Amino acid sequence: MEMFPPLYALVRRPFTTMSIWSCGLLLVILLSGGGASSASNYLIGLGSYDITGPAADVNMMGYANIEQIASGVHFRLRARAFIVAESQSQGNRVVFVNLDACMASQIVTIKVFERLKARYGNLYNEQNVAISGIHTHAGPGGYLQYLVYIVTSLGFVRQSFDVIVDGIEKSIIQAHENLRPGSISVNGGELLDAGVNRSPSAYLNNPAAERSKYKYDVDKEMTLIKFVDDDWGPVGSFNWFATHGTSMSRTNSLISGDNKGAAARFMEDWFAKKFFNEGFERIYSNLSGTVSIPRRVSSIVSNLHEQRKELMELASTFQSSPGRPATRMSSVARRVRSALRQVDRPQFVSAFCQSNCGDVSPNVRGAFCIDTGLPCDFNHSTCNGKNELCYGRGPGYPDEFESTRIIGERQFRKAVELFNEASEQLKGKIGYKHMYVDFSNLEVTISKAGGRTETVKTCPAAMGFAFAAGTTDGPGAFDFKQGDDKGNAFWKLVRNLLKAPGKEQCNCQQPKPILLDD
Ligand SMILES: *[C@@H]1O[C@H](CO)[C@@H](O)[C@H](O)[C@H]1NC(C)=O
Ligand SMILES: *[C@@H]1O[C@H](CO)[C@@H](O)[C@H](O)[C@H]1NC(C)=O
Repeated sequence: MEMFPPLYALVRRPFTTMSIWSCGLLLVILLSGGGASSASNYLIGLGSYDITGPAADVNMMGYANIEQIASGVHFRLRARAFIVAESQSQGNRVVFVNLDACMASQIVTIKVFERLKARYGNLYNEQNVAISGIHTHAGPGGYLQYLVYIVTSLGFVRQSFDVIVDGIEKSIIQAHENLRPGSISVNGGELLDAGVNRSPSAYLNNPAAERSKYKYDVDKEMTLIKFVDDDWGPVGSFNWFATHGTSMSRTNSLISGDNKGAAARFMEDWFAKKFFNEGFERIYSNLSGTVSIPRRVSSIVSNLHEQRKELMELASTFQSSPGRPATRMSSVARRVRSALRQVDRPQFVSAFCQSNCGDVSPNVRGAFCIDTGLPCDFNHSTCNGKNELCYGRGPGYPDEFESTRIIGERQFRKAVELFNEASEQLKGKIGYKHMYVDFSNLEVTISKAGGRTETVKTCPAAMGFAFAAGTTDGPGAFDFKQGDDKGNAFWKLVRNLLKAPGKEQCNCQQPKPILLDD
């Protein structure tokens, strides 16, 4: 059952406001415009650290499938940290950490702050540090503090927890030590083929007037932030785009960053290769005059073996140097120096962050019944009344590794395009806001027809019957189905043995029938 809600990051134009929503937590990072000088007046520091964790015998986080136990690694997981500080001392600073994990967790965050406090005093704190997860469903679980999130891992898993806390801390230390003058630009654009609505029938319950405001039934916008070091040039980027980390299925047992982890790897490899090739090209074209060397030796993603012939042809076009005499000392010294200097070059860090991915699936071909191959029932995502047989298909179906690669590559290519063309520079002071909101008791004013308004209240959390059906990215067990507004007698009986919801709660939650009350 695919059941855990994502972290919501709402990014709206104008670009200069970034907000991260996360389970009652709101952090807004403001780089407000106006007034300030146009010189790059920020310090920028990036860091990246491994957080792969225990790769065997640990339940995986996301699908809540007790049988999904890690048994190896598809590719490793990382924490990537970005610090932006005002360059004058005492200026504000913000930290954003993106985890190749299903989500952050409050207990992880508390532990990280404890360590940051011991190391840096009050420089990095609850107010100016945001920790977000990419929502992969293929990482080790057991690092959250709430019961519902650690039921299938049979409790808390110390190893999962430690590696994430350590990785966040180390990535922030790296970023802190890398702080150097630089500038930030921003760009945005639509990416159409990396996410679809996995509950299109539920979306249709929104009023037509509201739906007509949007071009698509999910958010297709990618927003990218590019970091440029004053001396080294581009040193990294991160972007927000909404699509679930469910290209890898609920039966996968290899640890993976899913499509976003893959995209981050592709982009970091792309930059390393581009950088290498550009340096290479400069040296060679100077040595051998007219020879032009293709920018990229190979595609970073695949088919290296199939392209052997092409590579051999390519290799044969590389002419050897015309054999210069061993040159002056100064030139050697310069070359040695520049080689050393490359070692100092900050590593390129690229993160693919999750945003409002609530019902956005990377399984873009739609949901089909595994027995008949026909599309699932539109309103309930069932096959002949059963939810267990209805699965979304990725673009590489039936190969989920291929689907992961393709959805990762689509995000990567879009990000490169936005990265190369990012020209709108962020200016002004740095600000941030963070608050905890109690969503169990919130008054909300909604507008009604005829200009009237009505004030309504939220209620304490409760999971409905439909929740237990999971989603088409990972259906649940038993006879639950999506879109169920009635419930059934047997499960109500079971529920009442555990905890019968009160009348007030039932009224507040209706028309959703309650399966598990708060
Ligand atoms: C050769 O090297 C110089 C200095 O590094 C550079 O400015 C020039 O553009 C290079 N020539 C070519 C053809 O790339
Ligand atoms: C889905 O439900 C809606 C609203 O109840 C109904 O009008 C529609 O016919 C249903 N569609 C299908 C394919 O069952």
